[in-house]
Amino acid sequence: METCTTAVQLRTLVKQWKKQGFTVGFVPTMGYLHEGHLSLVQRSKEICDRTVVSIFVNPTQFGPNEDLDRYPRDFARDCQLLVQSEVDVVFHPDAGEMYPPGFSTFVEPGTAAQGLCGRSRPGHFRGVCTVVAKLLNLVTPDYAFFGQKDAQQVAVIRAMVRDLQMDVRIVSCPIVREEDGLAKSSRNVYLDDSQRQAALVLPGALASAQRMIAGGQTDANAIRQQILGELQGEKLAEVDYVEIVDGTNMQEVSKVHEGDLVAVAVRFGTTRLIDNFTVTK
Ligand code: PAF
Repeated sequence: METCTTAVQLRTLVKQWKKQGFTVGFVPTMGYLHEGHLSLVQRSKEICDRTVVSIFVNPTQFGPNEDLDRYPRDFARDCQLLVQSEVDVVFHPDAGEMYPPGFSTFVEPGTAAQGLCGRSRPGHFRGVCTVVAKLLNLVTPDYAFFGQKDAQQVAVIRAMVRDLQMDVRIVSCPIVREEDGLAKSSRNVYLDDSQRQAALVLPGALASAQRMIAGGQTDANAIRQQILGELQGEKLAEVDYVEIVDGTNMQEVSKVHEGDLVAVAVRFGTTRLIDNFTVTK
């Protein structure tokens, strides 16, 4: 596996691949990799001839009181996992490479970024879109892979790619869970034992909602109230939001249909976790 730290190095490599006719897959990450990230890599390797993974903790997507400084990092371990997964290139720029002095151009996301996490984390998706647009410009992949755990991120990026006519196909991959159902997340390491146990209320409440929908319930408010009740029953959980939205444009729905997204965000102490499912009928 090659490591590139500069845009020039990365572009040179990708140009050589393209000359040889290889298709390129790209998995953007902030590192501290887990099986969720590795499932994206695996998918890329199934579809593409060459796979690039970026590891960059992007400062512009963190709010002033968020966890940028303590965000978990372990580049050596990440590289071991990527070598095992037979990734071709890891792109690991520093903040100065991505945001040199004088940097002042941002990508402003549209309506899909307004609710859910966009409401709780103002500016977050502006930072995500800006860095993802930059990374897509550098890697020029045929396909880029994102986890469905960040379902709103996927919707916002799909809208950006559509609106800015970017030449890349966005592939969304299923949520990967721990054995007990908790969605894998780099932020799970922040949880102490009691919070880790309490966090199971997320998949539990979502499973109840799935059962309601399977049983024929279509009233979004009734489903929302059920989830809210279960989450509020856990004393370590502080609910940020419970939302049922159209899976493409992220606008609230009153009747639940196939393709809608049921999404929750909950704080356990200073750790904010998200989880969701897409309605299938
Ligand atoms: O999902 C993430 O890890 C980040 O938001 C991303 C897409 C790598 C952009 O920094």
